[in-house]
Amino acid sequence: MSILVTGGSGYIGSHTVVELLNSGYEVVVLDNLVNSSKESLHRVEEITGKKVQFYQADIRNREALEDVFTKESIDCCIHFAGLKAVGESVQLPWEYYENNITGTLCLLDVMRKHGVKNIIFSSSATVYGDPDQVPVTEQSPVKKCTNPYGTTKAMLEQILTDIQLADPEWNVVLLRYFNPIGAHKSGRIGENPNGIPNNLMPYITQVAVGRREKLGVFGNDYDTPDGTGVRDYIHVMDLARGHVKALNKIKDQSGLTIYNLGTGVGCSVLELVHSFEEATGIQIPYEIQPRRAGDIATNYADASKAERELGWKAQENIHTMCEDSWRWQKNNPNGFAD
Ligand code: NAD
Ligand code: WQD
Repeated sequence: MSILVTGGSGYIGSHTVVELLNSGYEVVVLDNLVNSSKESLHRVEEITGKKVQFYQADIRNREALEDVFTKESIDCCIHFAGLKAVGESVQLPWEYYENNITGTLCLLDVMRKHGVKNIIFSSSATVYGDPDQVPVTEQSPVKKCTNPYGTTKAMLEQILTDIQLADPEWNVVLLRYFNPIGAHKSGRIGENPNGIPNNLMPYITQVAVGRREKLGVFGNDYDTPDGTGVRDYIHVMDLARGHVKALNKIKDQSGLTIYNLGTGVGCSVLELVHSFEEATGIQIPYEIQPRRAGDIATNYADASKAERELGWKAQENIHTMCEDSWRWQKNNPNGFAD
């Protein structure tokens, strides 16, 4: 089977490509490199000893997509390509809607023209908004998002749902990721944010490597055991394996299915900081700062549906997630620029 991976040179994409190649799939990557580097794919090839066919192209460029679907014999698309910075999306809503929504509509149109109606889509726990109850199941209500980025995920879930309903030849798997961290055990690929990291783990590793002075902890007055925000951190390689499992669902022609990909374990900001210190022996100076706009107290997954139906369960724990994030950062203090 040949898989088109949009956004395949990015953080989650590159790790998923490793798992796909190791599972015997042929992989074609399409990425415009707006938030990644081709070097990640060279390293994927080095890790796996296998070749990745790469197209530097934009999902909004119909001709470029036509070219890929004409030249390659694609069976399924794993669609990671998109802009993902929450704060930036508040400043640049047009750019986020245009890139994520128009881009995906363009991709879906070219796919159906070429008779490719199998897609795995990167959704996010952000669609649950501020949940009434945790852990959240796939039946928990999808709520209004506090930012345009999250709204693009909820809208794209709806678009894919409607398209599958209208044409049951489509097989759609919506994967709702919780908070991916960690890196491949080789330390050769990992998360490589541009500028000041928005997310917690890359901020911690940049403090550890000396690129930032201290971590700001956004609020310690939440209704949580230690007052700091609780999330479900999941190892990016577990996430990658989840995509390979989801491909089996596509092969079963299962219509539309939705899965949470998380560990089911909540971890606070301070717990993550202390686990990182324990795993690496490095102290992370931090200061308590005001809450960040749009943040919620607690979110973690009930991931039992993925276990039941996909035979997938997260294997890694917070300790190994911290070790692996740190190995990547330590060996590549400036990301793929090293
Ligand atoms: P990433 O930025 O590392 O990867 C996204 C990739 O898409 C990048 O390589 C970027 O260059 C590419 N891209 C963006 N717009 C494109 C376009 N118009 N045409 C072609 N390529 C384009 O991000 P990631 O963390 O690997 O996330 C992958 C997917 O998972 C995204 O859709 C993201 O929204 C989703 N997601 C991420 C998280 C997270 O915390 N990292 C959580 C939930 C969902
Ligand atoms: C985690 C916790 C912060 C940074 C975001 C998106 C979500 C999904 C994953 C894509 C929170 C705290 C953070 C820092 C801190 N992405 N924090 N200091 O907000 O759960 O989710 O990424 O889909 O859509 O919203 O992740 O890593 O930003 O924050 O104290 O410098 O760490 O307040 O409690 P979040 P995060």
